[in-house]
Amino acid sequence: MCGIVGYIGSRDCTEVLLNGLTKLEYRGYDSAGIAVFQNGKISVAKSKGRLKNLEEKMEQENSRPFGHVGIGHTRWATHGEPSDVNSHPHSGGRVTIVHNGIIENYKELKDYLISQGVTFDSDTDTEIVAKLLDYRYNGSPIQTISATVRDLEGSYALGIIFADHPDQVYAVRCESPLIVGVGENESFIASDVPAIIEYTRDYYLLEHEEIAVLSGDGVQIFDSFGTPIQKELKTADWDVEAIGKGGYAHFMLKEIHEQPTAIRNTISPRIQDGLPNLEECGITPEVLRRFRHIQVVACGTAMHAGTVGKYVIEKLAKIPVTVDIASEFRYRDPLVGEGDLVIIISQSGETADSLAAMRLAKSLGAKTLAIVNAMGSSIAREADMLIYTHAGPEIAVASTKAYMVQIAVMYLFSFELAFALGQIDEAECRRLIRLLQQTPDAIQSILEHKEKTQYIAASLINADSLLYIGRGLDYALSMEGSLKLKEISYIHSESYAAGELKHGTISLITDNMPVIAVATQKALMEKTISNIKEVKARGAKVIMICRSSDDIDAEAVDLMFGLPDFEDILMPMIAVVPLQLIAYYTSVLKGNDVDKPRNLAKSVTVE
Ligand code: F6R
Repeated sequence: MCGIVGYIGSRDCTEVLLNGLTKLEYRGYDSAGIAVFQNGKISVAKSKGRLKNLEEKMEQENSRPFGHVGIGHTRWATHGEPSDVNSHPHSGGRVTIVHNGIIENYKELKDYLISQGVTFDSDTDTEIVAKLLDYRYNGSPIQTISATVRDLEGSYALGIIFADHPDQVYAVRCESPLIVGVGENESFIASDVPAIIEYTRDYYLLEHEEIAVLSGDGVQIFDSFGTPIQKELKTADWDVEAIGKGGYAHFMLKEIHEQPTAIRNTISPRIQDGLPNLEECGITPEVLRRFRHIQVVACGTAMHAGTVGKYVIEKLAKIPVTVDIASEFRYRDPLVGEGDLVIIISQSGETADSLAAMRLAKSLGAKTLAIVNAMGSSIAREADMLIYTHAGPEIAVASTKAYMVQIAVMYLFSFELAFALGQIDEAECRRLIRLLQQTPDAIQSILEHKEKTQYIAASLINADSLLYIGRGLDYALSMEGSLKLKEISYIHSESYAAGELKHGTISLITDNMPVIAVATQKALMEKTISNIKEVKARGAKVIMICRSSDDIDAEAVDLMFGLPDFEDILMPMIAVVPLQLIAYYTSVLKGNDVDKPRNLAKSVTVE
């Protein structure tokens, strides 16, 4: 999604903006631009494509602005194709803005402005906001912003400069995230912490319709009526190292390798005397005993983590769990209410559909539990109960370590729930916790012997399409393996419940459709092997992910990745690692932009 950076201070503003935007590249974008005050006038440079295109363009045209106050933007197209003219910043004359989000009533506002003689150059909803601000501008930026945002419907975070206020940067938000960084004699606005952490760790989190004014005197914040307010200054505890590649070729590879540490960081504070303890998250045995049904709502990879959770909760705690895609849940009049627990899983904590689904669940009387990675994000702030995953910043668009800790939390939660409901006794709960604590070592052992995954990836790069199959927890895991592969390798793939194949999909099998079979559940092994034989008999090349110790008929498979032996129920945490690595190496071998796959954004803050 779009990224915003703004700066006021004594440094070279263009450099700070470009540097900050580079740190937001992980969010996904297709064009970039900046607006900087140079000798009292606003100088704008923008370009379709990557930030390097913008830099090249400024160099070729000798148009790199130099100044100390400005705003910058990376755009992920929603209204209007990626192009120079649609790139931000957009100007309304006296007002220049950058915008993240979607203005839903843009058509109505545009028609009104046209009726007033205003003209437009771009296809964006953002230009409408710039023109509306300019149309309303009465010499008082705060009054103008406060009056204008009342007319906007949708989501927005705006960075704004006024031509007649060359010593100030303004910001306002509704739904889309925005922070205000406070340094020594300098201030920043940004969509996310990585953009500013090199300069300062102190920041304010702007809330709904709050307006920030950055000037030489520091930062002032106003409520939506223009009244000054005091806010708590937060401190980002992120490690600057954590947002660099640390010697790895890609963030994704680094993040795959960070998984053992991420699991330890996430589970250790929630285990006391060998038993799960989620009290600090508002979850006690008494609270847990109130629920008769659990609904998990999330998107993409986070939804797949919820699907693993469903199998585990139902197996151990014997409570029915339904899993829904947030964009479906929010529009299908869901039957949740009092007595239901709705779990929202989100790495970013800002996914628009997940946030809306959570709000809906609350309005229907359900209790909400958020499992979120990004501290202070909207979902984290609004949920009734909250478990932070401590994965640290995830930069690669394809989620790996965030998925890992999401499922680690689902295990912790399931063990505590099953124990609270008397479905497992204390000894069993302790045993499961001990096993969970051993998963980082098992994952480490895979990471130390990962060469086979490169070999498997090399065998896939010419395939047009792939099938991932599995049963039970292995099916839940197949969904994630398939998504990971398709999003970064651009090879089409589907995940299928192995037993469902012969009801239609098996007709697709040819010798150019490899099948990755995940088989880690002992009770289902024989059944999955039968399905493997069925696809093999129809010409498929079969790659099997199973335990090294499994006695597999060499004739039945073409390639195999052997996993360490571990208890069935926890195998998803182990088996996902080769699936992540296969996707990673396939993308690398195809020469793709692994960390920033085409058309994708890291944080989907629009519907
Ligand atoms: C895939 C991926 C996405 C996200 C999804 C939800 O690798 O990362 O499918 O899982 O967009 O994002 P969050 O977890 O931020 O709500």
